[in-house]
Amino acid sequence: MANGVLDTLIDACRRAAAAPDPLAGVRAALAPLAADPRAALAELPAFEGEDHPLLCEDAVSVFLVRQTSNTAGPPHDHGMSAAIVMLDGVEIHRHYRRDGDSVALDHEVTLGAGEILTLAPTDVHAIANPDATPSLGVHVYLGDLVGGSRTLWDPRTGEAMAFTTEAYDRMVTTHA
Ligand SMILES: [Fe+2]
Repeated sequence: MANGVLDTLIDACRRAAAAPDPLAGVRAALAPLAADPRAALAELPAFEGEDHPLLCEDAVSVFLVRQTSNTAGPPHDHGMSAAIVMLDGVEIHRHYRRDGDSVALDHEVTLGAGEILTLAPTDVHAIANPDATPSLGVHVYLGDLVGGSRTLWDPRTGEAMAFTTEAYDRMVTTHA
């Protein structure tokens, strides 16, 4: 569909990234998806795996993110502001506080379809899906997520390391 939900979102995210308050603009861009998650789901392209880039530019990245059922990812930062809208299922966001080079669990927020969460560049979080079905959301990052430098922490030891997809995938566990 021309000028559908996703095309409109990408245009709005590009404009937001160049505006004086980019995160507020991205939040506004996600509002129509939050208001009607089913309409957005109906437009999504089919994709394999856990994430799929819709846009990856210097100023803004937009990803579809699927969290496999009953899994928990390791804590990480993004090094840039982020906003997430849930379209289907549940994402538990575990928010961590920094403790020197390590991190410690602070609190959890459970996000369901139609809800939006924003994250600051230094925020550290981990995503879990407690359900028997995969979750699906749109994650927007105010920068080049793939090209940027990020940190990942081992959830068992708290050890910090450079973010790589391989290291992240190695530390995904069963949700508990
Ligand atoms: Fe994240």
